[in-house]
Amino acid sequence: MRSLLVFLLILLATDVAGGDVDVDADALERLVRQDCGSCHGMTLKGGLGPDLRAESVAHYDREGLAFVILNGIPGTPMPPWSPLMTEEEAGWIADYLLEGESE
Ligand code: HEC
Repeated sequence: MRSLLVFLLILLATDVAGGDVDVDADALERLVRQDCGSCHGMTLKGGLGPDLRAESVAHYDREGLAFVILNGIPGTPMPPWSPLMTEEEAGWIADYLLEGESE
């Protein structure tokens, strides 16, 4: 628990320092593959969570996708990511999924 708190504080501090506009694309790409991939499959073809490849998320727009990422889907294992990332980062991931760059 304490290490999580420290982690969040570091994130917060980085946010303030980074001014919130820049996203670290490499770090986010790793997060999508590792963290999202742990449920959605390493190649995002689906696992515990559904397929996240471009054709499968096409019914979302950027905002809708970012909303699901930030808020999760209550009552399902899909967790809210808002404690761990900014809206800009969720938007970046939404674009990344919609553009199919994860494939
Ligand atoms: C602990 C497992 C888990 C993790 C980690 C996880 N998800 Fe999910 N996700 C799920 C499950 C399960 C669902 C399906 C929920 C349902 O039944 O509607 C889901 C649903 C979704 C949906 C909606 C898909 C659709 O077709 O409606 C999106 C988008 C999504 N996740 C994106 C992500 C992203 C991006 C990440 C990483 C930042 C992530 N998820 C991490 C389990 C997870």
